[in-house]
Amino acid sequence: MHSISPSANNSPAWALALTDRDAFAREQEQLGKCWTLLGVTSDLARDGDWFRARLGGRSVFVQRFGADLVGFENACRHRFYPLRTEDKGNGPIRCGFHHWQYNKEGVAIGIPKCQEMFGVTPRELDARLNRLDIATCGIFVFGRFANDQNKETLKDYLGEAFPILEAMWSPKRAPRYIETPIAANWRLVYHITLDDYHIVAVHPDTFGKEGYLPREAPHYHRLGRHSAYFWYGADDEVAKMAAEIARGEYSPQVYRIFQLFPNLLSLHVDAEGTWYVIVQQYVPLAPDRCVSRCWYFPAPFPATDKSRWAGLYRRVVAPFAYYVVPFYIRKIFSEDNGICEGIQSMASQIDAFPILGQHEERVAWFEEVYAETVGNPPPPGSDAQRKIGSAA
Ligand code: FES
Ligand SMILES: [Fe+2]
Repeated sequence: MHSISPSANNSPAWALALTDRDAFAREQEQLGKCWTLLGVTSDLARDGDWFRARLGGRSVFVQRFGADLVGFENACRHRFYPLRTEDKGNGPIRCGFHHWQYNKEGVAIGIPKCQEMFGVTPRELDARLNRLDIATCGIFVFGRFANDQNKETLKDYLGEAFPILEAMWSPKRAPRYIETPIAANWRLVYHITLDDYHIVAVHPDTFGKEGYLPREAPHYHRLGRHSAYFWYGADDEVAKMAAEIARGEYSPQVYRIFQLFPNLLSLHVDAEGTWYVIVQQYVPLAPDRCVSRCWYFPAPFPATDKSRWAGLYRRVVAPFAYYVVPFYIRKIFSEDNGICEGIQSMASQIDAFPILGQHEERVAWFEEVYAETVGNPPPPGSDAQRKIGSAA
């Protein structure tokens, strides 16, 4: 009833990339054409600063040239040595193997002994790096491989979430950062962030043993490819939040989270009276491996409680929040990651689509967008599948 057509290795289409290298590579190629978070502008503050990242399963880097940010695949056109061999740094794009040097357009303009070795000038050789589309939202830098399928701007891609995230992602100081390797497929880890049903079983110390949410309590908003969890039930709450932000009047009152396709989430949470923004991404490395990247910083919004007592309390407690936030991030991650590594150990035995309940609804939404993006059949129960069924 829940299964969809099995593939060569008997995994249903949705689960194939959890175990199969070719399916994983195909998935990554498609996802590399979607706007994906690469890093933060605070790592690109000075002219010549660069950072390395991964996009669509490939190594890439982003670099500041004056006022512009440019991004390239991290492979020298000569013999494919990586141009950047560390996570970040500063300096011209000069390959460590034979010293080819590239300009802002990614053209190799400095080639030692070019005429003697290649019989032409660097301009005639016209060796060019594979260039990325780059755009920013707040301090976050996004990239995608240029392609004919997805041409929308980052602003259009993020849709009505864009102005909210832009305001949310404008910290006053560089954010703090935590990186965690996980022995599970990135989608399994992303799924758990879209699941409000596991918290009693997996996070009893943090959220309480009786912490089941009422059936109707979390209000899920579907925002194109993306989704959000708001506690309030009104359908126009996302638009209201955007309007309050535009007027400079937004103060966080309750936990809210946005999940942004393909592998990003952003939330604000109360940490001992100080609201924090946490941005988290799951970077795919292999069918059974990913790395979580997490940035956190005090929310750049006016304080919710403006009373003198609350201000004093915040001043006293804020230094503790600074330590409490990473403590809870690490604790919750390790509980979630343990579950995902457990599912990964069963990945070759997955023979159906999961049975999803009310508080896992967004897992189905995500899988529907994922299937469409990578060219898989739509998952069971999705709107797309119902359309196929009624047409048959
Ligand atoms: S591989 Fe880069 S210069 Fe030779
Ligand atoms: Fe969790």
